[in-house]
Amino acid sequence: MTHRLSLPETKDKIGIYEALLPQVESLFQGEPDLIANMVNLVAVLKEAFQHLWIGFYLVKNDELVLGPFQGSLACTRIGFGKGVCGSSWKNMKTIIVPDVDKFPGHIACSSESKSEIVVPGIRKGRVSFVLDIDSHLLNTFDATDARYLGLLVDHLLKYSES
Ligand code: SME
Repeated sequence: MTHRLSLPETKDKIGIYEALLPQVESLFQGEPDLIANMVNLVAVLKEAFQHLWIGFYLVKNDELVLGPFQGSLACTRIGFGKGVCGSSWKNMKTIIVPDVDKFPGHIACSSESKSEIVVPGIRKGRVSFVLDIDSHLLNTFDATDARYLGLLVDHLLKYSES
């Protein structure tokens, strides 16, 4: 099946996220492969928002391992509790970092990254993966991003097998 992303004229991010949600849900319907759906979600978010780096890290044994992403080269493994991603895994919470230089232990994959958000995907009470988005601007992410990215991650969990 072919899909084409339809984005609204608005630059308002609530409007953009609202337009993405049903399209992403329809993209995932009938496709149980987690990686295939992650790849498409990264592509959708990149087209909609053009952030510096958008990608997933998957929990494998006792580490996060790099998964589908768009952006420049990234570190492949992150330990439990390390950096923003490992902290989101440990705390099972979305973390918004307005200024990466002020986050103790931040792992800098790119010197261009200034702010970041990490959203955990939690299945059966355990973190299965994290969605990590980096911006080249300070203060890019807020509660709106946390809410809508959380809803998109919920779609991913609902339609994909682990
Ligand atoms: N900054 C992340 C590392 C991953 S890269 O941003 C792609 C962290 O501190 O966990």
